[in-house]
Amino acid sequence: MKTYELTRGSDFRALALTERPERTPGPRELKVKLRAVSLNYRDLAILKGTYGHFPRPFVPVSDGVGEVVAVGSEVRRFAVGDRIIPAYVPDWVRGEPTEESTRRRLGGPLDGLLREYACVHEDAAVAAPKHLTDAEAATLPIAGVTAWHALFTRGAVRPGDTVVVQGTGGVSLFALQLARMAGARVLVTSRSPAKLERAVALGAAVGISTREEKAWEARVLELTEGRGADHVVDVAGGEGVGRSIEAVRMGGTVTLVGFLDSATARFDLTRAFRRVVRLQAVSAGSRDDLESLGRALEAQGVRPVVDRTFPFEQAPAAFEHLASGAHFGKVVITFP
Ligand SMILES: NC(=O)c1ccc[n+]([C@@H]2O[C@H](COP(=O)([O-])OP(=O)(O)OC[C@H]3O[C@@H](n4cnc5c(N)ncnc54)[C@H](OP(=O)(O)O)[C@@H]3O)[C@@H](O)[C@H]2O)c1
Repeated sequence: MKTYELTRGSDFRALALTERPERTPGPRELKVKLRAVSLNYRDLAILKGTYGHFPRPFVPVSDGVGEVVAVGSEVRRFAVGDRIIPAYVPDWVRGEPTEESTRRRLGGPLDGLLREYACVHEDAAVAAPKHLTDAEAATLPIAGVTAWHALFTRGAVRPGDTVVVQGTGGVSLFALQLARMAGARVLVTSRSPAKLERAVALGAAVGISTREEKAWEARVLELTEGRGADHVVDVAGGEGVGRSIEAVRMGGTVTLVGFLDSATARFDLTRAFRRVVRLQAVSAGSRDDLESLGRALEAQGVRPVVDRTFPFEQAPAAFEHLASGAHFGKVVITFP
């Protein structure tokens, strides 16, 4: 079968198209023919060598959807022909994460999904929501689940809350859509006025251009009559965490999701104490989260935002597009 591998190196030449033998599924495994995969910032950072040190060569990309083409002798949850989504953290089925349940992750350290076939354990897969195309279904496991976990599993977003999302990438647009589904009001920041217009069309109440208003937290306070937002989903990290703390209300929540700006943050702790801010870090979510997310999207007929799809043969171009920062939502690779 055809597969991409990350070989030595930390630029796009590290992504090599090669051949690997197909595997027979074990007793409780599903053999899946991949139909689409989606890229995350993580995939790019791993390619560049700035996220984890995984032995190479390995198959990149964590998120995808495919069709079951063979099952092991003891498989009960799925049958040939089913369309399934592998869970990004295969051993975290439900409940609190543990060291043990979160060690293995698709697309590093485990081989990922940028290959024609993959064998996955039946307990580490969920049925793809029926209303979604392959490209849309492939976007759920990291970006969708992280937003779900942040807002609902760990957070407690309720109708009428104000939620701030940063930027218009994968996690942030899922957070926007999910918060809207829960009846919250969403304020979105972006460096691009054109992307803000699209975010408003998607349901955001107000777009805040960080090009014009670097102190975006002041605008959030203004838009909430000085009270502050109930929840900020912080994907940027760095010095901006202090701004997120300033932007939430007394007792509000800042979810630490990413570090696009920097993995090191300096902020005034007394501001967090005085305002009793809850700082919570999240790292993806469980299979239960993935199932709940799929059910919620299906019940409300909501579709993830796919920015652009690339054919399998042009996978490096998909990585380059993500790296350009021009995307709005998810970048997807489809299989022949
Ligand atoms: N903790 C977890 O479980 C988890 C899960 C998924 C992702 N993450 C992390 O979350 C972050 C976002 O991931 P993603 O996959 O959603 O990324 P993405 O799709 O590449 O989106 C990133 C978006 O954020 C905005 N942005 C970029 N650099 C920024 C900066 N320095 N400051 C503020 N905004 C910036 C841009 O939007 P505009 O062009 O609109 O400004 C960009 O499109 C990454 O750090 C990733 O590693 C963490």
